[in-house]
This record gives sequence, C-alpha cells and structure tokens, in this order.
Amino acid sequence: MARRSEDISPTAHYTGYTWYHHGLSHPAFVTPQGRFMVGATRPLHWMAQAVGAPTLSGFLLARHRVIDHLLHEAIDAGQVSQVIEIAAGLSPRGWAFKQRHGVALTYIEADLPHMARRKQRLLAQAGLASEGHRVVALDALATSGEGSLSALADSLDPTQGLAIVTEGLLNYFDQAAVLGMWQRFAQTLGRFPHGLYLSDMHLAHQNAGAHARGFVAMLSAFVRGRVHLHFQSDAEALAALRHQGFAAAALHDPRVLLARWGQTAAPGAGLVRVIQASTASP
Ligand SMILES: C[S@@+](CC[C@H](N)C(=O)[O-])C[C@H]1O[C@@H](n2cnc3c(N)ncnc32)[C@H](O)[C@@H]1O
Repeated sequence: MARRSEDISPTAHYTGYTWYHHGLSHPAFVTPQGRFMVGATRPLHWMAQAVGAPTLSGFLLARHRVIDHLLHEAIDAGQVSQVIEIAAGLSPRGWAFKQRHGVALTYIEADLPHMARRKQRLLAQAGLASEGHRVVALDALATSGEGSLSALADSLDPTQGLAIVTEGLLNYFDQAAVLGMWQRFAQTLGRFPHGLYLSDMHLAHQNAGAHARGFVAMLSAFVRGRVHLHFQSDAEALAALRHQGFAAAALHDPRVLLARWGQTAAPGAGLVRVIQASTASP
C-alpha cells in the first residue's frame, strides 16, 4: 500500500501547475516537475481540444471549482470553520481559503510526509503561511495513532463544524481502501456539530465511452498503476456513502452546477462527479 501512495504523488505536481496555469494558484506552488509534465501532455491536450474531446484540464478545473464553491458556501453559511484537506498536494486551496476567510477559518492541509514537508517549505519561503493554517503529515490509510485522521481531529475544536476534503485521491485506491477511508471520515466528522465531506470521484458508467476509456488509460499511465472506477451507478456510490456512516449524500454533475453558477464547463467536466456528504449532529 505504501508504494501505491508514493506512486500517486507525482500527479500533485501536474495538478499544481494546472491550477496555476489557469489563474487559480500562486507561483509559489509551481514546481519544475509540474511545468514539465503539463508541457509534455500539451500536444495531447491540443489534439483533444481540436476535436472537442475531453481534456485533462476540463475535468480537473470542473472538480476544483465545484469543490471550492461548495466549501465556500458551507463556511459562509456558518456550518464549518475548520477544514482538513487530505492529499492536498500542491493545491492552492488552503492558502486561497485563508486569504478569503482569514483567522475565522482553521485550515489543515494533510499529505504524506515528503509532500507535507515540501508544501510547508514552499509556503514558508513565499511568506504565505498564516495563523490557523497548518500543513501536517497524514496517511489517509492509517486507522489510528500518529499520522491518522482521528489523531489529527483531536487537535481541533469539537464545538465547531468540520469539513474534510479529498481531491484527486479516491480513484487511485481500490474499493476496500475507499470504503475504509469513508468510514473513518464519517466517524471523525460525526464528532463535530456539523460534518461535511467533499470530494471528486469518477464512476464506471460515466467513463464507459471510447474517449473516456482513453482518458482513464492516460491517467493510469500517469500514476504507473490502475485507476479504479469503483461504482457502476450513482445509486451504488450513494448507498456506499450512507452505509459507511454518512447521514446524507449527493453526487453532483459539475456541468449542472457550473451552468447554475454561470460558469462554462469544458469537455471532460461530465466525466467526474463531486460528492457532498454530511453527518448527523452528535
Ligand atoms: C493527484 S494528487 C492531488 C493533489 C491535490 N489534491 C490536487 O488536486 O491538486 C494526489 C495527492 O495524494 C497524496 N497521497 C497519496 N496517497 C496518500 C495517502 N495514503 N494519504 C495522504 N495523501 C496521499 C499524494 O502525495 C498527492 O499529493
């Protein structure tokens, strides 16, 4: 398992550069690896774009914008004032949310130790660190003890709402690992007055066409391993979320939400879904 997790880390450089390239990030989070990887896939991107086929950036930007929007909404509504972003990688979200919500928001970015160290260094070097913004080492597969979600949650205020975010994580793990994560996320969120889980996920039935299959093959090559499409239908995924302890769950098609918010969805946006799940009050 440890090796699988390590294999996923290079993709954080790719997405990190993608967020920057599309005006969503800060130059501090750009790495030479990310710039190189995006450059290397550019011909594929242009070819796909020319024929209106899904592009990697199409689904990446869609998932990122939808998660951002739903998280801002929950914070603005006063439901959550603490966020743990698991597998944050080189995402700008922690920094950007602290910019907008200030000291009222506690934001913890969590990732494997080497990535967490790198993010801490990048934030410090660029002078972007702020009060209430931490980067910690955490393994999403750990069930207890140091480096586990449960231990990290002990450091939070149990009287305030908590959101857990995962982006670009679930489909790299098999179903048993994902179910285990969901159970731990629901248990942890259930300790807080409001518990919200936001994540992207690819389902089998939205990724069955020829374009989509090519796309999944490309993602798999990228992480030197299989990309798992765990659920055959929305209903199956929602039932699994409820079974693992969430009181309510929805799966959003980014095209629908982006249209509602007056934003354009690029081809590829329909290949991903965004989970919005919540726990009952303790
Ligand atoms: C595709 S990147 C996504 C990064 C970021 N969320 C984004 O969207 O830009 C996947 C991230 O998952 C992290 N990761 C992989 N396995 C993990 C695990 N077991 N626990 C925590 N993070 C993990 C990697 O280090 C990497 O930063």
